[in-house]
Amino acid sequence: MQFTRAIVRPPPASFADGLTRMDLGVPSLPLALEQHAAYCRALQSCGLTLIALPADPAYPDSCFVEDTAVLLPEGAMLTRPGADSRRGEVEGIRASLANAWPVLARITEPGTVDGGDICEAGRVVFIGLSPRTNAEGAAQLAQWLRGLGYEPRLVSIHGIDTILHLKSGLSWLGDGRLLVMGALAGHPEFADFERVVVDDDDLYAANAVRVNDRVLVAAGFPRVEAQLRALGYSPLALDMSEYEKMDGALTCLSLRF
Ligand code: GLY
Repeated sequence: MQFTRAIVRPPPASFADGLTRMDLGVPSLPLALEQHAAYCRALQSCGLTLIALPADPAYPDSCFVEDTAVLLPEGAMLTRPGADSRRGEVEGIRASLANAWPVLARITEPGTVDGGDICEAGRVVFIGLSPRTNAEGAAQLAQWLRGLGYEPRLVSIHGIDTILHLKSGLSWLGDGRLLVMGALAGHPEFADFERVVVDDDDLYAANAVRVNDRVLVAAGFPRVEAQLRALGYSPLALDMSEYEKMDGALTCLSLRF
C-alpha cells in the first residue's frame, strides 16, 4: 500500500487499434492524453515519483503497463501477456525494472499471465485464471510467490464475461479489505477478508487503486465514493472514459512500487 514510485506510459497514436471487448465507441487520443496527464498528477499528489516512459506506437495497448509485470518488495516478475499483440510490451519495460530489481524472474512459454489478473492483498496474492492468464502461467507465478513467502490463491473468472481481468472486479484496499464486484464477492478464497461489494451498476469502479493515503477511483460513481468515505478512505476520482472504451482501468495505467 505504501509506494514511492510508479512506471507510466502514455497512450500512443495507435491507441484506438488496441484490444477491446467494449462497445463504447472510438477513443479520442487528445482526451486520453489529458486523462493520462491527470492520472500522473494524481499519483504525484499521492507522493509518488514517476518513471515516465515514452509512448510506443508499435503497441496500441502499451499504456496499460500493469500487465507486463508483477512487482513486490522482494522481487519482480516479468509476465508473458496472454494476447499475442501485447507480448512485445514486456521488453519495453524490462530496463526500468532492472534498475530497481537487478534479478528479474519471468513467466515462460506456454505460461501466460497479465498483471491485471494479479491482486496483491498483503501476504496473500490472488491470481485470476482468465482468458489472459492460463493455468501454466498461474502455476509458475504461484511457485515464485511461495518462494518469496507469499500465499498465492487462484480465482477463476472464466464464465464472468463482464470483466477482462480479475482486477476489473477486485481491488485491495488494505486494512484486510477488498472492494469487489457482486459476482465474485462470495468466492471462498475471499472469505477471510472484509468485502466491500460494489453495486452491479458500478462495476467499472470495482477497479480502484489504494495509493498511500488515497484511493483512486473512476469518476462518475458517487455510490462507491460514499462507500469508501464511510470506511474512512479518501477517494480521488479520475475521469477514465477513454480507457474504459479500450477495456482498461485505473490499475492498468501504472506499475507501482
Ligand atoms: N485493451 C486492454 C487489453 O485488452 O489488454
